[in-house]
Amino acid sequence: MNSTTSEASTAPIPLSRKPSERGSPDAPARGKTACIRTFGCQMNVHDADRMRRMIQDAGYAEVQRYEDADLVILNTCYVRENAVDRVKGHLGELNRLRREGRVKRVALTGCIGAAEESQSLQKTYNIDLVLGTHNTYELAEFVGLPTMRETYTPELPGTEGEHSAFVTIMTGCNYQCSYCIVPTVRGRMTCRPMESVVREIENLVAGGTGYVTLLGQTVDAWRYQGKRFCDLLEAVSDIAPRVWFTTSHPSNMEDRTLRAIGERDTIVKRLHLPVQSGSDRMLNVMHRGYKAERYRRKISVFREAAPEGTLSTDIIVGHPGETEEDHQQTLQLVEDCEFDSAYIFKFSPRRGTEAADLPGVVPDAIVQRRFLEVLRGVEQNAFRRNQRKVGNMEEIFIRHGATEDGKAIGETWSGHAVHVDSDAAPGTYVTATIESAGPHVLYARIRN
Ligand code: 5AD
Ligand code: SF4
Repeated sequence: MNSTTSEASTAPIPLSRKPSERGSPDAPARGKTACIRTFGCQMNVHDADRMRRMIQDAGYAEVQRYEDADLVILNTCYVRENAVDRVKGHLGELNRLRREGRVKRVALTGCIGAAEESQSLQKTYNIDLVLGTHNTYELAEFVGLPTMRETYTPELPGTEGEHSAFVTIMTGCNYQCSYCIVPTVRGRMTCRPMESVVREIENLVAGGTGYVTLLGQTVDAWRYQGKRFCDLLEAVSDIAPRVWFTTSHPSNMEDRTLRAIGERDTIVKRLHLPVQSGSDRMLNVMHRGYKAERYRRKISVFREAAPEGTLSTDIIVGHPGETEEDHQQTLQLVEDCEFDSAYIFKFSPRRGTEAADLPGVVPDAIVQRRFLEVLRGVEQNAFRRNQRKVGNMEEIFIRHGATEDGKAIGETWSGHAVHVDSDAAPGTYVTATIESAGPHVLYARIRN
């Protein structure tokens, strides 16, 4: 783990080999070519899928490298400052390629596109098209397709491949967490009708999709015409052979949902429930709307419902005003909840958020120490818990086929990421014995 980075994940790889930066597959460089580079969360991955379809319809072949692309689309994340810095690096590189005549046009989309800062970026880097998260459909006109202004709906499926699909059930967020730019760039919550979600999943399953992930900033806040998230989850778990959902908010998480995870065979027993801090004082400053005790109680319901399941979280260290005592309370919560993995973030001030202007900025050296302490706590617990899996025989869903090293990446029903010696195709299951475990992944072998 690089201790100088401003974020760390002790989590298994959830979506792809490299979820935060996904390129397009290689394609012959004939005719028009485009390269889509996606940064950030699953919502962005999903948006990229829609844009991919538009450029394909417009006759573009997808390429992997910028230098082979006529059009480059940077689909971006704005959640932390270093995300912007990374995108600036890419924009600088693209400007150089454009001067050399290798890249013709550049589009900036996603959450940075929706932020005010995009205007100055557009000038500095000569970006041809800037789109936010609500007007992605304008890409259609940009690539020469008829306008999709009227026909574009958020109801298109987003697929990782035929075997796994991401289905957006809600967009936006009605919370106002002190540090978070998401409500500004994604807007308020909009929930998709239940029938529309169910119909889409029925179609996906009929087409061979074996794994459905329900997506949204706060999926458990979903409600529609008297139905709540658990109703939707239950309906989906009756249709799809394998189901997961992310991200949840502790204030919306119902015990009923936690129990359903344990009871329903088709739901992966993996819960991602961001806590952010273990201190009630900080949770209040952050406007999270719950106390640490309530979070602990939710976790005990989950652990009871799915004792073998996995629990992950998000934690921010160094939010303005965080004292040593607040930090100790976070460490205590990490100890008590025994997370199987966590995304740990150093606070990053985002212009336009409340926290960016708060007093009590925590000095970098202290943030760094706290970050490492939380990381150590999470990893120790995760390692201990993972050790308990050694010797078990597990059914593993293959997410990514074997690479040159002969290892495929899969997921157990408990939500553990597993490396397994197998040439099984993505979307299939293998049964294997867990032979060893690190803090992040399990290693399994198929015994004949
Ligand atoms: N600084 C640091 N971390 C942040 N997150 C969101 N905004 C910020 C910020 N300004 C983290 C939160 C959230 C996750 C997606 O990113 O932990 O749950
Ligand atoms: Fe951001 Fe809070 Fe909404 Fe999550 S719940 S997207 S952290 S405002």
